[in-house]
Amino acid sequence: MRIAIINGPNLNLLGTREPEVYGAQSFEQYLEEMRVAFPEPIELSYFQSNVEGELVNELHRVGFEFDGIVMNAAAFTHTSVAIADAVAGITTPVVEVHISNVYARETYRHQSLMAKHCKGIITGFGLEGYFLAVCSFLSSPRQES
Ligand code: DQA
Repeated sequence: MRIAIINGPNLNLLGTREPEVYGAQSFEQYLEEMRVAFPEPIELSYFQSNVEGELVNELHRVGFEFDGIVMNAAAFTHTSVAIADAVAGITTPVVEVHISNVYARETYRHQSLMAKHCKGIITGFGLEGYFLAVCSFLSSPRQES
C-alpha cells in the first residue's frame, strides 16, 4: 500500500516555526517515527514544497497510482483554486490534515477550498493528525471499481 504525504508552504520549518502553535518536532523526525509505526508493505512517500505549482504536480504524480494521500496544504488550503482543482481531478482519495485546530484560529483559516473534494479532514491533533490520516486509509482501504 502506497501513501503519499504532501506538505505545503512553511511546513519545512516545523520544529522552529511558532512552536507554541505547531510543536517543537521537525517533520523529518516525525516521519522516521511514522515509518517505524507503519512498516512494509506500507510505503510512505514524502514531498514538501513552498511552491503552489510543485504541489499540483505532485498531486498529479501520485494521484492515480497511490492508495491514499495525506495533504497539509498549509496556507494554500485557504486560497488555492489550483490545489482544490487538482484534488478534485485525481482518483486517489485525499485526507486533509492541519496540525493546529484551524477553527480555533483566525476566521480566514476556517475556509478550505479543497475540503469538499477530500475524504475527510483532521485538524488540531498536532503531528498525530498525519498518523490518524494514514490509519484512516488502513481501516478503509480504497475500493477498486
Ligand atoms: C496549518 C494551518 C494553516 O492555516 C496555516 O497556514 C499553516 C499550517 C496547520 O497545519 O495547522 O501553515 O495548515
